[in-house]
Amino acid sequence: MSVKILCIAGARPNFMKIAPLLRAFSSEPFFEPRLLHTGQHYDDKLSRIFFEDLRIPRPDVELEVGSGSHAAQTAEIMRRFEPVLRDEQPHAVLVVGDVNSTIACALVTAKFQLESPFAWKQGTRRRPVIIHVEAGLRSFDDDMPEEVNRKLTDAISDVLFVSDPAGIAHLRREGVPSDRVFFVGNVMIDTLLSARDRAMQSQVLVELGLAGRAHGLVTLHRPSNVDDPSALREILTTLDSLACELPLVFPIHPRTRGRLQGLGFTLDPHRWILTDPVGYLDFLKLMATARVVLTDSGGVQEETTVLGVPCVTLRENTERPVTMEEGTNILAGTQPSRIREAFTQAMTAPRTGRVPQYWDGQAAVRVRDILLGLFRS
Ligand code: UD1
Ligand code: UDP
Repeated sequence: MSVKILCIAGARPNFMKIAPLLRAFSSEPFFEPRLLHTGQHYDDKLSRIFFEDLRIPRPDVELEVGSGSHAAQTAEIMRRFEPVLRDEQPHAVLVVGDVNSTIACALVTAKFQLESPFAWKQGTRRRPVIIHVEAGLRSFDDDMPEEVNRKLTDAISDVLFVSDPAGIAHLRREGVPSDRVFFVGNVMIDTLLSARDRAMQSQVLVELGLAGRAHGLVTLHRPSNVDDPSALREILTTLDSLACELPLVFPIHPRTRGRLQGLGFTLDPHRWILTDPVGYLDFLKLMATARVVLTDSGGVQEETTVLGVPCVTLRENTERPVTMEEGTNILAGTQPSRIREAFTQAMTAPRTGRVPQYWDGQAAVRVRDILLGLFRS
């Protein structure tokens, strides 16, 4: 018997997480991995480019859902995903991260009955096993759509793979049985370590006129920072003052691009290098060579920790505390004085930090081996 695992990806940060998992499953004949792309992200620069950069095989199934409100997008993914489960009859559905595609596919799977039962944990089972990779992260901020997605996905998952030991404690407190939870490390870092040499060949610094010049790197896309015009204006005004000290590269997420247009705020092209979102290899090169990264991204907090590059997080909380406790991350919030303070600290006395446990390039292999044990037994 082989085990058919339907792996779900939909938005930019999912592609870096799914890539090493697909590679690990493909190297083990016991597994039959299939890839489904929900189409939550669909622009070439938020989707196709990662398939090329990370050598991800073409998806077996594409739902092409596109954008919408949370309810409309989540519902549309669910509506289109159910018939796929009927056709594919997978033993397991694997979701990563905390985007709308994650909870939508997990929720449909939780109520889906397969045509034939299969052996699972000393018994038989009629529903596909739900596997959540990057389980247990908590910001304790229910205003974040991702926090809702994380908690709900974890509550209905059968196998939960954790990247940070704090996640084990969060899941225990929420009543998740401990035999479902496995600490495996960080699959996003598997991708970083395997792509690092290729990324260093990127010509992005030359293309952006930055060869031989220091730069900082900015990303912003959290609704709490960009959807409210006054919050966005205040953050950009502060960053603009920092750009006098260090040119800032800003690959602009489409959510943010839309908000900037209505803001009437111009970023001086002498101090800022504004681009569309860039591919993974170019972004990794920009990150690895930056003096400092200023961001509200979740994944970027982790990647800068591994690269040893100072990171100033423009949020009031983080679901990734290990990047502050052990890594290079400073949680600055969004108040101008705190951002300036954190920037100065990052520029003058950067913390070297250390790489958290199991962020070693082997997380996906651990996931595969644990699943092999669970399905074989
Ligand atoms: C989503 C995730 C967020 C993740 C981010 C990664 C949820 C709730 N949010 O946020 O956790 O950090 O992706 O980048 O799942 N758009 C385009 N082209 C695209 C996709 C989106 O122009 O290919 C525009 C649309 O106007 C859309 C907006 O961006 O309405 C937001 O996209 P959406 O996927 O809803 O949320 P993100 O902000 O990207
Ligand atoms: N990233 C990228 N190009 C960019 C910005 C980010 O390749 O222009 C990568 C980044 O290295 C990380 C991932 O996108 O691997 C993070 O995604 P994002 O910030 O969109 O989502 P989050 O992690 O906040 O959910």
